[in-house]
Amino acid sequence: MGSLFDLTGRVAIVTGGSRGIGRAICERLAEHGAKVVVSSRKKEACEEVVAAIAARGGTAMAVPCNISRKEELRALVEATRAAWGRVDILVCNAAVNPYFGPSQEIPDEAYDRIMNANVRSNLWLCQMVIPEMAGRGEGSVIIVSSIGGFRGSPRLGIYGVSKAADMQLARALAVEWGPRGVRVNAIAPGLVRTDFARALWEDPANLKKRTRDTPLLRIGEPDEIAGAAVFLAARASSFMTGQTIVVDGGVLAGPPLVPDDE
Ligand SMILES: NC(=O)c1ccc[n+]([C@@H]2O[C@H](COP(=O)([O-])OP(=O)(O)OC[C@H]3O[C@@H](n4cnc5c(N)ncnc54)[C@H](OP(=O)(O)O)[C@@H]3O)[C@@H](O)[C@H]2O)c1
Repeated sequence: MGSLFDLTGRVAIVTGGSRGIGRAICERLAEHGAKVVVSSRKKEACEEVVAAIAARGGTAMAVPCNISRKEELRALVEATRAAWGRVDILVCNAAVNPYFGPSQEIPDEAYDRIMNANVRSNLWLCQMVIPEMAGRGEGSVIIVSSIGGFRGSPRLGIYGVSKAADMQLARALAVEWGPRGVRVNAIAPGLVRTDFARALWEDPANLKKRTRDTPLLRIGEPDEIAGAAVFLAARASSFMTGQTIVVDGGVLAGPPLVPDDE
C-alpha cells in the first residue's frame, strides 16, 4: 500500500504502552502495519495489549521496562533488535508525576523522579536508538509532552517544567540528527481520560471547569492522541522535525464562546 500513513514492516517501541495514550498509540501503529513493542513496568498488562493487537491481525510483543532504569531501557532496545533487527519508530510516552502541589514545597526526591523519568530517560532511550536509525538514514522519534509544558500550573509546576523540557529535547535532537535523516517531534495533549489524569477529571467541579475552558467542550479520549503519533511516525510527516503537535480540544487557542452560567 503506498499510503502516506502506511507503516508496514516498521518496528516501533512504545513506552507506557499498556494503558491510556500509549496503548492507543500501540494499537493504531499496529493497525497501520507496524510491528509494535509494547512496554511498561507490568508484563501482563503489556501482554493484554499484545493479545488485543494480535486479535485484530496485528503484530506486537511485550517487553517490560521501567523507564527510570537505564539497564532496563537497554534491555528493551536489545530485545527489540533481537526479535526484529531494528527500531524505526520510537515513542517516548511513559512519564510520572509523583507530586501535586506548589513548586515552592516540592521535595528534592519528587523533583528528581519527575525530571529523571520524564526527560533524562527519554534522552537515554534516544541515545540508545537514534544512532542505529541514523545508520540507515531514517527514523522517527515521538516524545509525548503535554500542554502543561506551555503554561504555568499552580499544582503541576515541575511536571510542566519536565514537559517543556521534552519539547526542547525534540528540538535539540532534531537539530543534531536531521542531517542523518532522523526526525524528532513531540505531541502535547490536553486533558485526556486516563488513569494518569484521573484526579483532574474524576472531580466533577474540576471536570466542569476544564470542559468549560475547552473550545470543543469536552476532555479527550486516548485514541484521539494516537492519530498524531501515526502521522509523525509515517511518511506523511517526512518534512517535519523539531516540532510539537498540540492535541488539546483547543485549550491553548483560548476559552470557548459559552454562557458563563451553564
Ligand atoms: N492523560 C492526560 O491528560 C495527559 C495530558 C498530557 C500529557 N500526558 C502524557 O501522556 C503520557 C501518557 O500518559 P497517560 O495519561 O496515557 O497515562 P496512563 O494511562 O496512566 O498510562 C501510563 C503508562 O505508563 C506506564 N508507566 C508508568 N510509569 C512507568 C515507568 N516508570 N516506566 C515504564 N512505564 C511506566 C504505565 O504502565 P505500568 O504501570 O505497567 O508501568 C502505563 O502503560 C505521559 O507522558 C503523560 O505525561 C497525559
